[in-house]
Amino acid sequence: MRAQKLPATLLLLLFAISSLHANRRKQKEKIVQTTTNICDISDRDSKVHCYCENSQDINEAIKTECWVFNGGIDKTDPLWPSFTSQSNIETLAFNVRADGGLSFVPTKVLRYLRKLKHFSIKYSSILKIESYAFVNLTSVQEMVLTKNQIVVLSKHAFYNLPNLTVLTLDENRIKKLETDTFYELPVLQKLFLTSNNISVIEDGAFRHLVNLLELELDRNNISDLKKECFDGLANLKRLDLRRNKIAVLNSFTFIELWNLQELLLDYNEIYILAQRTFDGLSQLKKLSLSHNKLVTLTDGLFEGVRGLSALDLRYNKLKRFTMDNLRPIYDNLKTPKSFIYLEGNDFNCDCHLAWMHKLRHEAKSIKIRMSLENFICKFNADPSLSSHFAYYERMGINNNLDDTEKIRNDLDAPDEIGDEIDDIYIDEPKKIRADNERTLLQIPVELLPCPVEVKSVTDRTYTYPSQNEAKDYRNLIQSSSILFIDNTILIFSMFMLLV
Ligand SMILES: *[C@@H]1O[C@H](CO)[C@@H](O)[C@H](O)[C@H]1NC(C)=O
Ligand SMILES: *[C@@H]1O[C@H](CO)[C@@H](O)[C@H](O)[C@H]1NC(C)=O
Ligand SMILES: *[C@@H]1O[C@H](CO)[C@@H](O)[C@H](O)[C@H]1NC(C)=O
Ligand SMILES: *[C@@H]1O[C@H](CO)[C@@H](O)[C@H](O)[C@H]1NC(C)=O
Repeated sequence: MRAQKLPATLLLLLFAISSLHANRRKQKEKIVQTTTNICDISDRDSKVHCYCENSQDINEAIKTECWVFNGGIDKTDPLWPSFTSQSNIETLAFNVRADGGLSFVPTKVLRYLRKLKHFSIKYSSILKIESYAFVNLTSVQEMVLTKNQIVVLSKHAFYNLPNLTVLTLDENRIKKLETDTFYELPVLQKLFLTSNNISVIEDGAFRHLVNLLELELDRNNISDLKKECFDGLANLKRLDLRRNKIAVLNSFTFIELWNLQELLLDYNEIYILAQRTFDGLSQLKKLSLSHNKLVTLTDGLFEGVRGLSALDLRYNKLKRFTMDNLRPIYDNLKTPKSFIYLEGNDFNCDCHLAWMHKLRHEAKSIKIRMSLENFICKFNADPSLSSHFAYYERMGINNNLDDTEKIRNDLDAPDEIGDEIDDIYIDEPKKIRADNERTLLQIPVELLPCPVEVKSVTDRTYTYPSQNEAKDYRNLIQSSSILFIDNTILIFSMFMLLV
């Protein structure tokens, strides 16, 4: 019996000891688990592996890049608390691989990392940034959430990030910018939302971003800009709205942006600009509206942007760009770095473009001089004038650089003019130019036709408070003649000869 009892007690004892051990081991495992060094994950089944620069020792890593794979990671995964093993991380990036998955912002991890400055997530399947997903991250300076699947930014998604200066949300599918999504971001300077699906910007969406300098909304689906949508952006310097669906811009759209220097509206569908669209943009230097559908510009359009010195209107359907359009900014265009681009429009060679001659001579900017020298318009005047044009064109045709100069040089030898020009005009009229296009600066101001309808357009400006077109036009003729006379007086006498 004893012999039987003893082993029984022993067994019991052994069992007790072993279970105690097992418990210990379990506890130990638990401890080990919570202290897993995320820079040194040995578990093959882990959903995340991180690469740490500098050192991998506990609390020594500064820069860490984590790859998410193995089917993806959920919120309850025991790995998340392991980030406490590296509490000095300053830069943390999550890259989700194709076989991975990350459908939420690991908000808790961000809480552990008190020194985090740069944070990024790429290629995740996050659809929504929940309210307070990024809250109270006092040390974070830059956040990059490019190439995720984000559709919704909840109210207060970015809340109280007192050190955040750059926020990048490019290449997501964000549909709408709601009021109060960006809240308490007192030093945010750059907000990038390129290549999303934004069609709605609620009033006050940026209201709290008083220190924002740069806002990129290009490559979205914006068709409508409400009057209050840019409220609060009093320090914004650059606004990029290229490649959207904007068709109409109303007066005062940008009225709050009184520090804006650069406004980019290229590749939209703009066909209407209200007369006071740009009012309030007193600091604006560069305005680009290329690749839109503008046909006309109201005279006073630039009255509100008197600092403008760079204007791009290429590839619209403009028929007219008059001195009345230009007057508020004309003097700025004489400065060295200015530009005005007008190619790819539908201009006729007539007196409304006479200002080009004047500006060509007054401009210090090489860009302006080049673009004016290469400026081509359509010539549709009556046949008698047409022959004069052909005549001038012929003389300038061999010289692409400075055609007016060429005309002047040719005129130094008046004997040759007669036969030669007539010959060519008669023999090879089509060779002068295949279609009805002319280089405007090759046409002396005096010969620019002034059709009645153009006159009536300019006439309307008599009532305009600033100036009157007729006077300008007279001055133009004078100054242009004087300038030509610089080297030779012949341009004028030749003109007389022709008439
Ligand atoms: C964030 O900070 C504010 C003020 O410091 C505090 O009232 C709030 O409870 C914090 N929120 C969270 C989710 O920590
Ligand atoms: C915010 O950034 C500044 C300058 O980079 C730094 O001195 C300060 O400690 C940061 N604040 C926090 C709470 O980390
Ligand atoms: C963009 O939003 C529209 C609806 O507003 C939706 O039909 C479309 O699928 C979205 N596009 C993308 C790429 O998410
Ligand atoms: C743009 O938005 C309209 C509705 O506002 C939607 O029908 C269209 O699909 C969107 N375009 C793209 C490219 O997502």
